[in-house]
Amino acid sequence: MAAFEPVLTRIVGLEDSHRLEVCEREGGYQALRKGLRDFSPSEITEEVKRSGLRGRGGAGFPAGVKWGFLPSMENNPGPRYLVCNADESEPGTFKDRVILRDNPHLLLEGCILSSYALQANHCFIYIRGEYPKEALILERAIAEAKDNNLLGENILGSGFSLEIVVHRGAGAYICGEETSLLESLEGKRGYPRIKPPFPAVVGLYGRPTVINNVETLACVPSIVERGGDWFASIGPEKNSGPKLYCVSGHVARPGTYEGPMGLPLKELIEDVCGGMREGSTLKAVIPGGSSTPILTAEEAMKANMDFDSLAALGSMLGSAAVIVMDETTDMVRVAANLMRFYHHESCGQCAPCREGTGWLEKICSRFEEGVGSSGDLELMEDIADNIAFKTVCPLGDAARMPLEALIAKFRDEFIARIGSRTAGCVS
Ligand SMILES: Cc1cc2nc3c(=O)[nH]c(=O)nc-3n(C[C@H](O)[C@H](O)[C@H](O)COP(=O)(O)O)c2cc1C
Ligand code: SF4
Repeated sequence: MAAFEPVLTRIVGLEDSHRLEVCEREGGYQALRKGLRDFSPSEITEEVKRSGLRGRGGAGFPAGVKWGFLPSMENNPGPRYLVCNADESEPGTFKDRVILRDNPHLLLEGCILSSYALQANHCFIYIRGEYPKEALILERAIAEAKDNNLLGENILGSGFSLEIVVHRGAGAYICGEETSLLESLEGKRGYPRIKPPFPAVVGLYGRPTVINNVETLACVPSIVERGGDWFASIGPEKNSGPKLYCVSGHVARPGTYEGPMGLPLKELIEDVCGGMREGSTLKAVIPGGSSTPILTAEEAMKANMDFDSLAALGSMLGSAAVIVMDETTDMVRVAANLMRFYHHESCGQCAPCREGTGWLEKICSRFEEGVGSSGDLELMEDIADNIAFKTVCPLGDAARMPLEALIAKFRDEFIARIGSRTAGCVS
């Protein structure tokens, strides 16, 4: 890896890195002081636009552009909100947890600066229910920040006030999708909303709202402190900044690692993660969480970990959750496992996803049990086609895209399972 200075994990590993005292000793909240003193709200948005920061929650939408969609205060006076998406529910993803647990003040600083830019006086952090410890750490960090006038009324004498509320989810994958998250925050069932209108115009409680991922917001202090041009100089063009990669599966050292955007996947696996686990060879990689199309070993070895490079290979950076698989991995089982997950997590609001994921699970299970038939592959492709772009939210596509790639790239494994059932292998 070329010389790279960690930004998001710089203080991770220091004793009590989650405490305000340690964070400030290491330079924390300097960006907030600078931002409130030297920048107007619109100047911060401009700096974020210049940085090229793209959302780290999955879709990679430019953060500054999204902020710019909020109507002006003159045209739409009244409350507006920032919502931080800490649902972190995409299988394979555990990067936001590092920030929440080990550097919560970086996230708070990002939330405060971003709320200032948006002129929002209320910010909600929606954190997955399975992160009770991280929720507690966040609440303690909020209390520390308030006690030190970094949060609350008239922050650092700037005249800007902000309350941050931590809201715990209850275990639904769909509540990571931004509009069902808003429904859930409002106390309703987590059904995704039909867009438009987009949350920037009609969001939480019907008011203009920006939703950003934890890692996205944690990038903002460094942009304010060191400038948008500095941030844009890290990584390839239009894919800028530091990036957290969470690697799981058959590597020697799985974990969350920070590197520049665009890091070669080969380097991530072989150098950063110590290569494949002993004696095994690479078979395939899911590069960005379970919703992203799988790469063969050959494709993986030439992939770079950024939005545009992975899109050119027919996959996605997604949440940068890299799932590495060796030659022992049964791709039919991978497909069945994924379809079970998506069927279980489908909210059931629209028929193509509700029924389609159920059928895909059923047919994948038939292959897994060795009772699939020769027409079943075409049937799955047809069902996937009937889901594609015909659903209220992207969960339907998140289910069919990885399956389509698995069938296309590992078709032989599915075919080999047709009629393979033996008396002893199915209960
Ligand atoms: C089914 C589904 C689950 C999602 N889960 C998450 C999640 O856990 N965390 C997240 O930040 N974004 C998640 N997203 C993306 C959000 O809808 C949204 O795009 C994101 O929070 C925007 O933040 P960003 O622009 O900073 O990336 C999910 C999307 C879908 C369709
Ligand atoms: S695509 Fe699936 S998860 Fe999304 S609204 Fe439709 S049924 Fe619900």
